[in-house]
Amino acid sequence: MDVVRSRPRSKGFGHYVLFLGVCAVSLHAAQAGNAAQAGSSQAKKAKEPSHKTPIYANKLAPYVSSPTRVVDRMLEMANLKPGETLYDLGCGDGRILIAAASKYKAKAIGIEISPRLVAKASENIQAAGLADQARVENADLLTTDLTGADVVTLYLATSFNAKLRPRLEKFLKPGARVISNDYPVPGWKPTQVDVTDGRNAHKVYLYEMPAKPDLTLLK
Ligand SMILES: C[S@@+](CC[C@H](N)C(=O)[O-])C[C@H]1O[C@@H](n2cnc3c(N)ncnc32)[C@H](O)[C@@H]1O
Repeated sequence: MDVVRSRPRSKGFGHYVLFLGVCAVSLHAAQAGNAAQAGSSQAKKAKEPSHKTPIYANKLAPYVSSPTRVVDRMLEMANLKPGETLYDLGCGDGRILIAAASKYKAKAIGIEISPRLVAKASENIQAAGLADQARVENADLLTTDLTGADVVTLYLATSFNAKLRPRLEKFLKPGARVISNDYPVPGWKPTQVDVTDGRNAHKVYLYEMPAKPDLTLLK
């Protein structure tokens, strides 16, 4: 395992606190919005089917985009090749998809739970003229089939990576790469860890999926 530490990490805790802060503000805003809407939409809500769970119930991280230099580093570390398929789980405004499709000629698929961000990312993909290579699905990343992925990018949080880990292990083929901005996948050993330059340094983790054990050898 090559562990590359280009400089000591000093902002990690700051990022984590910022991330938690954004979570708290998002939650507060959501609660305030819900409270404000509660009265006016009560009659409308009564008509809605009660069995439906809103898709936002599974929101694992707030929207904070990866800076361009971090996106570039993530894709370099992924060693993405033309024609490979990249999934960005929680794709936000689609910037990783656009970089993967335009610079690396990859097929890029974004999974995003927020319909507003799905619309934004789709608009950005159209504007970049990449609609034949990149697309976004309005879906929950915890229910997505990742069988076709060569590379998966993440910017969630450590606890959410832990929730996702069994699905990555189930779906990803040997040799597939997982790149996570700032938050490790608990229990996995990274092949490489890098820290980006600049004022707000980000730690980038690269994981490579190992060969599946040959169970026939046990017979
Ligand atoms: C920190 S942002 C990262 C955005 C983008 N990947 C980037 O690096 O610029 C996390 C994104 O995950 C989305 N998200 C959170 N929970 C999700 C879920 N369960 N399924 C799909 N997307 C989710 C959020 O809406 C947000 O856009």
